[in-house]
Amino acid sequence: MTDLFSKFDPLIEQRETLLSTGLTDPFNLVMERVESPTVAICNGRRTILLGTYNYMGMTFDADVIAAGKKALDEFGSGTTGSRVLNGTYAGHRAVEQALKDFYAMDHAMVFSTGYQANLGIISTIAGKDDYVVLDIDSHASIYDGCALGNAQIVAFRHNDIEALEKRLKRIPEGAGKLVVLEGVYSMLGDVAPLKEMVAVSKANGAMVLVDEAHSMGFIGEHGRGVAEAQGVIDQVDFIIGTFSKSVGTVGGFCVSNHPKFEILRLVCRPYVFTASLPPSVVATAATSIRKLMETTDKRAHLWENSKRLHAGLRQLGFTLGTSEPQSAIIAVIMPDLEMGAAMWEALLKEGLYVNLARPPATPAGMTLLRCSLCAEHSGDQVDEILAMFGAAGRATGCI
Ligand SMILES: Cc1ncc(COP(=O)(O)O)c(C=O)c1O
Repeated sequence: MTDLFSKFDPLIEQRETLLSTGLTDPFNLVMERVESPTVAICNGRRTILLGTYNYMGMTFDADVIAAGKKALDEFGSGTTGSRVLNGTYAGHRAVEQALKDFYAMDHAMVFSTGYQANLGIISTIAGKDDYVVLDIDSHASIYDGCALGNAQIVAFRHNDIEALEKRLKRIPEGAGKLVVLEGVYSMLGDVAPLKEMVAVSKANGAMVLVDEAHSMGFIGEHGRGVAEAQGVIDQVDFIIGTFSKSVGTVGGFCVSNHPKFEILRLVCRPYVFTASLPPSVVATAATSIRKLMETTDKRAHLWENSKRLHAGLRQLGFTLGTSEPQSAIIAVIMPDLEMGAAMWEALLKEGLYVNLARPPATPAGMTLLRCSLCAEHSGDQVDEILAMFGAAGRATGCI
């Protein structure tokens, strides 16, 4: 019998070697208590959180929590069914209306996660004779959507407008084309040149889907994302997003103005063949989305935090993923996995949690300490974070 697990042996060995040095497992940390969007207790110690996607700090918002509790009392703990059977409650309709209002779009469809939103929309609209042209650094859920739909995948070099154009021109005449882009790429925190890319895609007859998971609520005049900030949101056919980042709960969605959009509710397997989100979750999401429409002060403060952290880390001598801060994500590039893991642990001992990111999630085999800021981080906390980076960097010999 072939052991179907033998393919994991190299990873098991690499992990065991790393942990045999006495290192804390960076992928197994427990938050023993969470005190606020920016502070938790880990290993019995107060820890500043700099590795969550809680960009707008909505997880502890009093109105959001009250809405969740009310829905729990009034509608129970779960729907126990699919959206197309017994799983559409008033709250699911309400959160879809909140999304339509937030994006000023005609249609909104909510999924159980952002992963499922990409999986569902891409696999349903791009079938085996269609082409999906995507940035090579696309999120796993985008690749998995292409695989589920059996679409022809054509990848182009990260954020390279000319490469996108070349790939589009090579696709056979008359074939269905979907260009998939992200507003902010989550590993390095860099922004896509959507203005140029959307123009090139449209000139070559492609539909465009933009995943704005890491920009919602923060980037663009109304927080609609990078497509809004770059003035092309009206030309984008589908926007994918998630409730697990700025919205502060869990769930995923697609918004669109396509006149036939609603048919997707009957043909999209990751929407039909799974249970819908619990009433408390959709109630928290709807409340949070409506509040995100009026959070310009918080957005400005988040930008300040991002600029302050980026400048401070650079001054300490760290190599960063972008030369200027472009989003709420600041990636610190580590020379290798060993140093990345050592820095990660040294930071944790200082009282700071960041994400350790490694291949295959990262581009070009990089190991990253990914820092994601929250609008609730105070200026003092950012200074504390910088002091911890300085101490950990010196202790490990990283700087
Ligand atoms: C670009 C992008 N799309 C989609 C997702 C999936 O979101 P969710 O956590 O809601 O499944 C993520 C999550 O990390 C992401 O970074």
